[in-house]
Amino acid sequence: MSKTAITRRATFNSAHRLHNNQWSDEKNELVYGKCNNPNFHGHNYVLEVKVIGEIDPETGYVIDAKILKDIIKSQVTDRYDHKNLNLDVSDFKNLIPTAENIAKLIYENLRSSIDQDKDLKIKLYETENNIVEYPA
Ligand code: NI
Repeated sequence: MSKTAITRRATFNSAHRLHNNQWSDEKNELVYGKCNNPNFHGHNYVLEVKVIGEIDPETGYVIDAKILKDIIKSQVTDRYDHKNLNLDVSDFKNLIPTAENIAKLIYENLRSSIDQDKDLKIKLYETENNIVEYPA
């Protein structure tokens, strides 16, 4: 039987700064440009969490969207929304909060809460033009 995908969308607003402590200020500026601004800057992130699997014949669901919504809320938006990712979120204590790293971490944070027989895909819009997918 073909699998079916359900996508739940969520949004969060967070501040960050892209900065590699191992590099000089000049190199950081060169690589990250405006995203290296020492006073941080914010993004309105749009997150799409896609769950792929068989439709349960009893419920008619791949996953109950309410349950998925609650998992995203507790694992992602409650933790990231209106936060400074560098300063407020332990996930980024030793990890540069690029869209790539945020998407990968969201995947890792959600994976254990979703049945292993279902596939999980994360799509994160940092801006309308910068979009990261994990796993690719
Ligand atoms: Ni940025």
